[in-house]
Amino acid sequence: MNFYCMTLFPEMMEQAMNTSILKRAMEKDILRFQAFNIRDYTKDKHCKVDDYTYGGGAGMLMQAQPVYDTFQAVKEKIQKPVRCIYVTPQGAVFNQDMAQEFAAEEDLVFLCGHYEGIDERVLEEIVTDYVSIGDYVLTGGELPALVMMDAIARLVPGVLGKEESFMTESFTDGLLEYPQYSRPEEWMGKKVPEVLLSGHHANIEKWRYEQSVERTRQRRPDLYQRKFGP
Ligand code: ADE
Repeated sequence: MNFYCMTLFPEMMEQAMNTSILKRAMEKDILRFQAFNIRDYTKDKHCKVDDYTYGGGAGMLMQAQPVYDTFQAVKEKIQKPVRCIYVTPQGAVFNQDMAQEFAAEEDLVFLCGHYEGIDERVLEEIVTDYVSIGDYVLTGGELPALVMMDAIARLVPGVLGKEESFMTESFTDGLLEYPQYSRPEEWMGKKVPEVLLSGHHANIEKWRYEQSVERTRQRRPDLYQRKFGP
């Protein structure tokens, strides 16, 4: 899978992507990441990428030209139609189903905005998906794009090792994950639940499922209702 990111802060993106599991996936060539610096594509002689908004109001807007030309450079590289995700609090809220859907793509382009946003005309020209990571406002699109790339990348076959396998974890079956314990058997007077020491796999599985259901009911009643009804 190939991620392309249009941003004013390519180093921030590269640094985050070149860490831990994603770094390993890139070394194995399962994943590729390329940041395009929007400032490299401005035709302004002072390398400006933003300007005041028509109609007044506070703040600066990213201009259409540098964003559009950056996207042309990305398209030149990909050479086929591609989804272009604009990360914005005005988008649909990202979730595991969307991560799954995006993970099936071979290429994905992320557009990270800054300042007060991006000139609407270029968004109309290039964006296929408007996606938010939640109902709060960040200073730029870089962190949301990284969040989405992380969630998408780990669904790409081969990115996670067997140990990190994602089949029975929070959200894959609409339930939160059950509690887990490692050594020692007793810590600060708290014992590991007996059933987990029993070696009885059917009982362990049943216990874990019940814990998942109860935890979801308590912590995420919205998910519980979606799965089991009101
Ligand atoms: N840009 C600023 N805030 C954002 C959010 N919550 N989601 C996506 N992009 C954003």
